[in-house]
Amino acid sequence: MIIQPRVRGFICLTSHPEGTAAHVKQQIDYVKSKGKIENGPKKVLVIGASTGFGLASRITAAFGSDAATIGVFFEKPAVEGKPGTAGWYNSAAFEKEAQAAGLYAKSINGDAFSDEVKQQTIDLIKQDLGQVDLVVYSLASPRRTHPKTGVAHASVLKPIDQPFTDKTVDFHSGVVSDISIQPVENPSDIENTVAVMGGEDWKFWIEELKAAGVLAEGVKTVAYSYIGPELTYPIYRNGTIGRAKDDLEGTVSVLNDLLKDLNGISYVSVNKALVTQSSSAIPVVPLYISLLYKVMKEKGIHEGTIEQMQRLFADRLYSGKAVELDEKGRIRVDDWEMREDVQAEVAALWEQISTENLEEISDIAGYRNDFFNLFGFNFDSVDYDADTNEVVDVPSIK
Ligand code: NAD
Ligand code: NA
Repeated sequence: MIIQPRVRGFICLTSHPEGTAAHVKQQIDYVKSKGKIENGPKKVLVIGASTGFGLASRITAAFGSDAATIGVFFEKPAVEGKPGTAGWYNSAAFEKEAQAAGLYAKSINGDAFSDEVKQQTIDLIKQDLGQVDLVVYSLASPRRTHPKTGVAHASVLKPIDQPFTDKTVDFHSGVVSDISIQPVENPSDIENTVAVMGGEDWKFWIEELKAAGVLAEGVKTVAYSYIGPELTYPIYRNGTIGRAKDDLEGTVSVLNDLLKDLNGISYVSVNKALVTQSSSAIPVVPLYISLLYKVMKEKGIHEGTIEQMQRLFADRLYSGKAVELDEKGRIRVDDWEMREDVQAEVAALWEQISTENLEEISDIAGYRNDFFNLFGFNFDSVDYDADTNEVVDVPSIK
């Protein structure tokens, strides 16, 4: 079929198999260009492996240190003339590239929050790898069915005490407008968001992997967080999602206790704001990102997900030196985003930004391009008017 972008609000309903493959290849080439990560991970489980930071982590492990990888994700193959999801095509492309490079790669498509998928993953590790030495936890989801209670939790993106009004952008039309978001009415909104995006499921994974004996001596585990600038605090770090991130970060000490007898360790890495399927759903943040891109590109310090994850592995997790942590015990690869000069320039632009000057003073063009790239669009090497086969296998998934 001929596949072109079909956008609804902040999602794109279609994905292009050849374009997503080009995107994966670009990321692989970047990691290879940086050279081998000495003493990197060898047997890696990535939970949330099909898009964004999780995919970039998988690519970095595989092509940066020849790791065998198992990826868990929740994606859809093509059905009846409807293309598959970007994460499905990404994973297909990743596995093919890994196979061609002689690297083990298998994937599990299902609900990572469930006991069944955890058990399936444990069985696969036992069968093929014995143990894993790194577990990356990179889920981003709007909902979670709790495996013990059966309760379906839905997360919300809301401020907590007061209504919040600030600028936001519709990145397709380029209209900048004010948005007002009412605070949570009910504490259950906070509890539900923490249940979905907090640390409990990460803990369940590590507990169950450990109990099954599939964590290697010296195992590491890492999950991803975000802080960002003060201007997004009401909707992000001090909002419902921020409570979930507090909970995720608090899980580190629990996991460190759990992993002590294996000489294992857990980390949260605070990553840079980037265009992913998840972040494009947050109000205000896309406008901030388009200004951040502008400033960081001008300074020559812009990074995408793959540059971030390559740096996390090479300069932090596997640098051979003690891992540098902030006062709260977190890894910071948002260090360049949070630099004073960067933040001061973004804040000054934030005051001026409007529909009229959006194209000029922000990198909204870069934002849009990254957004379309997520779904395999805007790649020069792909002819989007040509027929393409939408039915693509992820080789390890039957
Ligand atoms: P993403 O949407 O690109 O990736 C989410 C992944 O989770 C996908 O692989 C998806 O298949 C998987 N997933 C979702 N629900 C699932 C389920 N029920 N079962 C199995 N897999 C499931 O998101 P992302 O932006 O890469 O986010 C990953 C992490 O990074 C999140 O914790 C996010 O908060 C954090 N982070 C994101 C940013 C950013 O700007 N995007 C910045 C810092 C930290
Ligand atoms: Na991810």
